[in-house]
Amino acid sequence: MSQLTRRAALAAPLALATPALAQAYPTRPITMIVPFAAGGPTDTVARLIAQEMGRDMGGSVVVENVGGAGGTLGAQRVATARPDGYTILCHHIGMGVIPSLYRRLSYDAVNGFEPIGMITEVPMTIVGKRDLPAQNLAELVALVRQRREGLNMANAGIGAASHLCGLLFQSALGVPLTTVPYRGTGPAMNDLVGGTIDLMCDQTTNTTEQIRAGTIRGYAVTTTTRVSSLPELPTAAEAGMPGFAVSVWHGLYAPRGTPAEIVTRLSTSLQKALAVPALVQRFNDLGTAPVTAEQATPAYHRQFWTADIARWRPVIQAASAYAD
Ligand code: MLT
Repeated sequence: MSQLTRRAALAAPLALATPALAQAYPTRPITMIVPFAAGGPTDTVARLIAQEMGRDMGGSVVVENVGGAGGTLGAQRVATARPDGYTILCHHIGMGVIPSLYRRLSYDAVNGFEPIGMITEVPMTIVGKRDLPAQNLAELVALVRQRREGLNMANAGIGAASHLCGLLFQSALGVPLTTVPYRGTGPAMNDLVGGTIDLMCDQTTNTTEQIRAGTIRGYAVTTTTRVSSLPELPTAAEAGMPGFAVSVWHGLYAPRGTPAEIVTRLSTSLQKALAVPALVQRFNDLGTAPVTAEQATPAYHRQFWTADIARWRPVIQAASAYAD
């Protein structure tokens, strides 16, 4: 039985019971899959959202980390889950690049999901270990050009935001670095702080507190304007790398075939979560902000995601940067 036929068989009973089902939903804990290791930026965003959505829906939203393969293992888990609203995915810009980057996946990277709504768009930072002999981005560029593969750069696997940002950094300098993949930039951060990792490009939700504490060195933010939570950090353009701009959008997804009433219920709960003052403050403290209520709707998320897939496809094809 093909996956699509199996999915239709799974969805049929749900479609018949939809009105009653959606009214009672949820009647048990919802699992929110994070496709990267615990402690990283995706996990941070997911846990903040899950807590508030659980409160709103009168139940619990339990985060489960399914890392590996650049976020595709976790995405596969949701794409092949029962479309009943009890397994959802919190993922980021990887959902825009994976359809072009991976040519052999065991799930449908585009048609396997129902977008629920967007969450936030997070700036990235270029960071280094504390004792790296470079005091600013210009000195870092000189060091990278001198040491080349003698320096290593961590990422969370092919298709991860840290991988994409690292690729942009290396191609901007025309210098290849030794890349070290992890199941998420949470564990990678431990090795950056410990000094076995030299460099990383990661989201402010994972780097802000480390930069402030002085346990790692921040060189630049990858947005066109400075981030209020790190006012002393220059933009890459200010620091001598014009045109280096990348930020990481995040969204929620349900398996394809999830009843529209349930997707709407989840989106409504997401929108309420994004308006909770404590969550807004925490996002701001970590260098980001919630999207608007309209951007947290399925329709907006779908058009944004579709456009992002189209944006990355020619870039990946031109670089032949396929994952397999
Ligand atoms: C993470 O949550 O570990 C990161 O988002 C991984 C990445 O995309 O670099």
